[in-house]
Amino acid sequence: MKFGKIYHENCIDTLQRLPDDMIDMTITSPPYDDLRVYNGYIFPVEEIAKALFAKTKPGGVVLWVVGDRTVNGDETLTSFKHAFAFREAGLTSTTR
Ligand SMILES: C[S@@+](CC[C@H](N)C(=O)[O-])C[C@H]1O[C@@H](n2cnc3c(N)ncnc32)[C@H](O)[C@@H]1O
Repeated sequence: MKFGKIYHENCIDTLQRLPDDMIDMTITSPPYDDLRVYNGYIFPVEEIAKALFAKTKPGGVVLWVVGDRTVNGDETLTSFKHAFAFREAGLTSTTR
């Protein structure tokens, strides 16, 4: 893989080609709550969380920008589901 090159592809494929403990910081705003049209695409947050955990250096950072849709006055709590997926994968709010 080349530094400074944009890989327009499924991030799972990109992460699989990276060595472990390589990433210093990830900043991303993934899909959530069908706020955009994804034609039934299910975003594999658990799989991506596991891959990001493996590829992020000890002390590395993941900035994951998601929100919650409000449906009938109630929030979906998708952001919480994503947070728990990262916790399950091994990331914590203090250390990697
Ligand atoms: C919430 S949008 C954010 C896009 C951009 N950051 C913006 O502000 O316009 C989520 C983006 O993630 C992309 N995406 C969804 N699943 C992906 C995947 N597995 N790998 C890479 N990109 C993905 C979608 O195509 C979409 O462009």
